[in-house]
Amino acid sequence: MPIIELNNISKSYDHHSNVIDDFNLSIEQGEFVVFLGPSGCGKSTTLRMIAGLETITNGDLMIKGKRQNDIPAKNRDIAMVFQSYALYPHMTVFDNIGFGLRVRKVKKTLIKEKVERAAALLNLTPYLKRKPKDLSGGQMQRVALGRALVRDTDIFLMDEPLSNLDAKLRSIMREELVQLHRKLGATTIFVTHDQTEAMTMGDKIVILNNGKVQQIGKPTEIYHYPKNLFVASFIGAPAMNLLALKKESTHFVFASDIVETPDFTKELDELILGIRPEDCHISTIEGYPFEITFIEEMGSDQFIHGISAGQKVIIREVPDKKFQIGEQVFFAINPRKISWFDKETGERLRLKMEKNQSEQLRVNHG
Ligand SMILES: Nc1ncnc2c1ncn2[C@@H]1O[C@H](COP(=O)(O)OP(=O)(O)OP(=O)(O)O)[C@@H](O)[C@H]1O
Ligand SMILES: [Mg+2]
Repeated sequence: MPIIELNNISKSYDHHSNVIDDFNLSIEQGEFVVFLGPSGCGKSTTLRMIAGLETITNGDLMIKGKRQNDIPAKNRDIAMVFQSYALYPHMTVFDNIGFGLRVRKVKKTLIKEKVERAAALLNLTPYLKRKPKDLSGGQMQRVALGRALVRDTDIFLMDEPLSNLDAKLRSIMREELVQLHRKLGATTIFVTHDQTEAMTMGDKIVILNNGKVQQIGKPTEIYHYPKNLFVASFIGAPAMNLLALKKESTHFVFASDIVETPDFTKELDELILGIRPEDCHISTIEGYPFEITFIEEMGSDQFIHGISAGQKVIIREVPDKKFQIGEQVFFAINPRKISWFDKETGERLRLKMEKNQSEQLRVNHG
């Protein structure tokens, strides 16, 4: 049985437009699920509905098989970590971590035991007597986590918990959180707008845009098989190249060249060819004409920006090749790595072969 289920969840503040629209998701025990999407897409709203801090306009929220819509936040078996750590400045680390327990009148000896256990897990033992102002950002973040840990729940909700940290500390905390998750095995929903966090931490990523779920899948699935143009351009830095192709009589053409296309399940006159920068390379002899307009040296590799048939293309190349701005070369693409999209709907195109295969599977498996 899934531990958390969102069934057709919608939210509107003004009863006209939905800020969350028909959200469906099923989370298994111990999964680390990431909500990823641009600012304002509804990540926090969804998390707050799960926590009980926001009412649910429509649909059912189930936790461990029980409907939660009318259960107040304090009675839901959940711990939440917020972006602002909201630590009490006048209290020590010990008191900050144990605060919720004290409010709930838990026995002093039990509070001490729980706080010390959480502090040990989070490497905070040496800092228990300090005040928040004498801690680093990462240590403050860990105190906020500690407060969630002592709640003795197996569900954690985290809303951009790392966004106040600098880049280096973020990557350290990323690793620490993943390790903590391995140790505790608690079901976690982690909200972020940082795709690196999503890709590296999530068992499963839910991509949201404008209150609508765009795709749910494993990080590699989402990276290699984006379901639509939004996901294709949102995941990956630099983004996937998206080239518009037009049909001329019987074939699709790019830069006056015929492009081999598979058989799609629908007839189209225009489509989008999606190819990642690392699945292209620059050639001096073959491919589509390409004028280099800009070079980004990253150290580990270089991103070559340019124009081909009036369209922008970015190519990832190894660092030791030398290129020049203004150079006229060619670029070739790995045909096995192409994603095809319907230009009109923005949806990933299904191939006839895929359809046959899935029908075959259905036949074989009843
Ligand atoms: N109390 C409210 N009344 C009306 N609209 C609201 C309210 N709270 C949030 N919204 C709207 O709901 C939408 C989703 O907001 P939400 O805070 O969930 O976005 P988010 O994905 O968490 O964004 P961010 O990455 O910036 O934190 C936004 O368009 C926001 O303006
Ligand atoms: Mg938010």
